[in-house]
Amino acid sequence: MKILVVGGAGYIGSHVVKALLKAGHDVTVFDNMSSGREENLFPQAGFIRGDILNTKDLDSCLSQGWDAAIHLAAFKAAGESMLKPEKYSINNITGTLNLLNGFAEYGVKKVVFSSSAAIYGEPQYLPIDENHPKDPENYYGFTKLEIERFLHWYDKLKGIRFAALRYFNAAGYDIDGEIKGLEQNPANLLPVIMEAAAGWREALKVFGNDYDTKDGTGVRDYVHVSDLADGHVKALNYITEKDESLIVNLGSEEGLSVLQLLEAARKVSGREIPADIVERRPGDPAKLVASSSLAKELLGWEAKYSDVESLVRTSWDAYKDAKK
Ligand code: WQD
Repeated sequence: MKILVVGGAGYIGSHVVKALLKAGHDVTVFDNMSSGREENLFPQAGFIRGDILNTKDLDSCLSQGWDAAIHLAAFKAAGESMLKPEKYSINNITGTLNLLNGFAEYGVKKVVFSSSAAIYGEPQYLPIDENHPKDPENYYGFTKLEIERFLHWYDKLKGIRFAALRYFNAAGYDIDGEIKGLEQNPANLLPVIMEAAAGWREALKVFGNDYDTKDGTGVRDYVHVSDLADGHVKALNYITEKDESLIVNLGSEEGLSVLQLLEAARKVSGREIPADIVERRPGDPAKLVASSSLAKELLGWEAKYSDVESLVRTSWDAYKDAKK
């Protein structure tokens, strides 16, 4: 298939491009390079520099004709979204509506969309399945939930089939070590631990150790980015073959605490990795774990590389020789 990957130079996007190329697709990246990295572009894939907020960029790209699009272009910092909601409204919501209108106009009938576990909010029960109440705690999660709703309507009214993939905590780097572009100014746990291990920051700040969890620190479902990438290929096959839309969680179904990841990183890197316990971060639930049984049932998808060892080892492989 001829596939456009919007946001394909980013952290998750670049892994998705790799998986699509491996599956034999003809892939082109569309990215404004605001957080995408040159090193993440594959020579075997096309590249169009453009912005989803610029309808001229979109017209000239979409008029080239595409069988499917993967849409990963979004801002994703939950904390920032509470301080600058306008930025998230414009980029995530307006940008996506521009894309959907373009898809409708130029006949792109299949879309895989990066949704998020952030749409669920504070867990009412665990593990979280797709029917869990949707009550986002942050504006970022709200933008993803609203986009899922738009997708339903564009399916109904314009015949655009979609797969909304609700990622839990994406982590790790390419298992073959081929993708080298590191995220700039990361706020997520594993890259922060890696920056501390590399000596780029003084210490990890552990946000609270008095949660009701196994060791008092926050527990999350970390899913390897190569597993997520594989989920996109399978989801695209599903909506193509079945001609119906799909919503699934993608998670490892395993809960790992902050201290478990830290200890594993110390072991793998052989570095001390200083860490300080500080106050809880507002809005952090104690524990989030996915049920991914629907993805298994419908797509035959299962996390293969999301064990703590693989998450940390692939991350350290990317960080250990990198320059800040
Ligand atoms: C993980 C755990 C922190 C940093 C966010 C988004 C969510 C989703 C995934 C995309 C928590 C602790 C973290 C640090 C720490 N994104 N932590 N020190 O908040 O679970 O989810 O990314 O859709 O929408 O909100 O991820 O990596 O920030 O935190 O102790 O420096 O690590 O308290 O327990 P989070 P995270």
